[in-house]
Amino acid sequence: MKILLLGSGAREHALARALASDSATTELVVAPGNPGTAAIATNLLIDPTVPEEVVELAVQMGADLVVVGPEAPLVAGVADAVRDAGIPCFGPGAEAARLEGSKAFAKEVMAAAGIPTAEAAVCTTEEELALALERFGAPYVVKEDGLAAGKGVVVTEDRQAALAHGRACLAREGGRVVVEDYLDGPEASVFCVCDGATVRPLAPAQDFKRLGDGDAGPNTGGMGAYTPLTWAPADLAEQVVREVAQPVVDEMARRGTSFIGLLYCGLALTAEGLRVVEFNVRFGDPETQAVLARLTSSLPELLLAAATGSLTQAPAPTWSEQAAVDVVIAAPGYPGTVSTGGRITGIEAAEEVEGVHVLHAGTGLGEDGALEATGGRVLSVVALGEDVAAARARAYEAVARIHLDGAQYRTDIAAGR
Ligand code: GLY
Repeated sequence: MKILLLGSGAREHALARALASDSATTELVVAPGNPGTAAIATNLLIDPTVPEEVVELAVQMGADLVVVGPEAPLVAGVADAVRDAGIPCFGPGAEAARLEGSKAFAKEVMAAAGIPTAEAAVCTTEEELALALERFGAPYVVKEDGLAAGKGVVVTEDRQAALAHGRACLAREGGRVVVEDYLDGPEASVFCVCDGATVRPLAPAQDFKRLGDGDAGPNTGGMGAYTPLTWAPADLAEQVVREVAQPVVDEMARRGTSFIGLLYCGLALTAEGLRVVEFNVRFGDPETQAVLARLTSSLPELLLAAATGSLTQAPAPTWSEQAAVDVVIAAPGYPGTVSTGGRITGIEAAEEVEGVHVLHAGTGLGEDGALEATGGRVLSVVALGEDVAAARARAYEAVARIHLDGAQYRTDIAAGR
C-alpha cells in the first residue's frame, strides 16, 4: 500500500512510525514531515492545506491511501478533494470537520443527537458574553468558536481573565465565543475510527493540557499523555461508542455529510456520567504518541478500511499489555512567543533507555546540519513499561538525557496514575 501522510508534528511522526513498520505499507511519503519522519519515510515539501497540491502529489505517487494528520487541511477541504480524485482518504470532509472547526456547530450536532455535554451559550456580542459568564458562574469556561491550535480555551476562576479572553475572541473577524458550564471530573480522550457508518474505538488515554506542573499556567496543545487509564471504567471505550461516537456518526450521515476519519471524543467523567468536553476530527496530540506505542495490530489496514467504508470487515485493533507515557519537551516561550534555533542534543542517548523512542515535532536542521528547535512543541519522549509507573520512570530518565537551552517540560505527567 502506498500511503501519503500529511503533517509535520510528533503525532505525524508517531503515525509514520506505525505505518512504516507494517508490512502492508510499501511506500510512505510524509508531506511536509520533519527530520524524524525523514529517517523512516520520504519527506516532500508541499503545503498540506492546499487541496490541489495534495491531490497532485497523491496522484503522482499513485497513493492507495491519504492520511490527514492535522485539522487545518481537513477544514480546508483536502479530504473532499482527495476523495473526488478517486483516492481513499482517512479524514472527514470540510462540512464534517466543522465538528472541530466550530464549537457552536459541535454543540448543535450534540443537541440534535442527544449527546451529553455541558450547557452552553454562543455569544457574538460583549453583552451576551457578560450575561453568559453571569449565568454559568465560576470556574468560567470560555472557548473561541474556531480553530485555535489548542490555545482557544480558557478555564479560570478569574472573571476579568474570562472576559478578556472572550473579548479577544469576539474582536477577531467573524468572532464568536462559546461560554459553557464547567464539567467537574477527570478527563479522558477516546479516539474513534469511523468509516461513515461504523465506529471502532482505540485505547483511551489522558493528556495534560496546562503548561506547568499541578495543572498550573496557560493551556497548551498538550504537554504529555499516558495510556491505559486503569482508574477509568473498563468499558469506557464501548460506552463512548454507544453514547457519543455512534450517535454523531449517525447524525452526520443523516445530514448527508458522512464522518470518515478519526473522531476524537474529549470527555469529562463527571459524577452524573460522561459528558463531551470537545470533539476534534483528527488524532490528538500528544495522546497519539502514547496510544500508537501500544497498538499491536495493523494501522494501515485499519485506516484503509475506514477510508473505504469497510470497517465492519476489519479486525478490531489489538493492544500491548504494556503502558505508554509520553512527555513533551517544548521550546522556551511556548505557548506564547517561542524562541527557536536552540541546539538539541542527547536524542540517541535518550533512545538507549529501554522501551523509549523520541518523536520529532518542531525540529529542523541548522546550516551546519545540527538539529535545532523550530517550533513550540519540539519533541515527544515516549516510553513503554510494564505499568504506567514503570513507563513514566523510563520516559523521565530519557528526558533527562536530552538538552535544549530553556526547554520546558512538566515533571508530573502520569504521576500517581
Ligand atoms: N490533546 C489535545 C488535542 O489534540 O487537541
